[in-house]
Amino acid sequence: MKLVYLAASAAVWSICAFTKQREAPKSVMLAPAESVSKPTVADSKDDVVKRGQYLVTIMGCADCHAPKKMTAQGPAPDMDRFLSGHNSAQPLGTFDKSILKTGEWVVFNGQSTAFAGPWGMSFAANLTPDETGIGNWSFEQFNTAMRKGKFKGLENSRPLMPPMPWFNYVNMADGDMRAIFAYLKSIKPVSNVVPSYIPPAP
Ligand code: HEC
Repeated sequence: MKLVYLAASAAVWSICAFTKQREAPKSVMLAPAESVSKPTVADSKDDVVKRGQYLVTIMGCADCHAPKKMTAQGPAPDMDRFLSGHNSAQPLGTFDKSILKTGEWVVFNGQSTAFAGPWGMSFAANLTPDETGIGNWSFEQFNTAMRKGKFKGLENSRPLMPPMPWFNYVNMADGDMRAIFAYLKSIKPVSNVVPSYIPPAP
């Protein structure tokens, strides 16, 4: 009798051990991207802003949204005007517009903030928290601009023009979108009214 009991409890124990082992990996199987991209209550505001800065850096927003300064290593973002869009105080300069007629070329200015192509001419927006930038924007507006490609993030406004790659951001995790917005709201405000988009010449 004792033996049967012992054998039975050993069997139960080993089943438990087995199921425990099988359950164990579940807790570590959370996709790393998911676990870091959703700020939880535990994330401090600083952590969220830092993540936003990290994302803005690796996603290259400054390539277009920051005016550039020439350095020994080539053009670099002008940190005094970081992410403030095409500098409206700087003369645009001229180029041979006939180059656009073929549709084979698009033209970037030297700052990589003004862009001409079959869509007309577009200017990188001011993403700083100044009132001429996104200072008065709600997160919902930002989300609509980034996911639906709508100017000023308003549902019935015009579509955002190239080369703003908004379609790449459609499936961004909500936490990442919020982190980017929090970071942009934390940077130095720069007053700069970016020129209006110019539709293509008929
Ligand atoms: C390849 C160039 C390029 C890159 C990279 C880029 N943008 Fe843009 N972005 C633009 C241009 C140009 C516009 C203006 C388009 C227009 O006026 O139709 C724009 C517009 C926007 C707008 C809408 C502003 C408004 O007033 O409606 C937001 C928001 C924005 N970009 C955020 C970002 C963020 C955040 C990133 C990085 C994750 C980014 N962009 C990366 C070129 C770029």
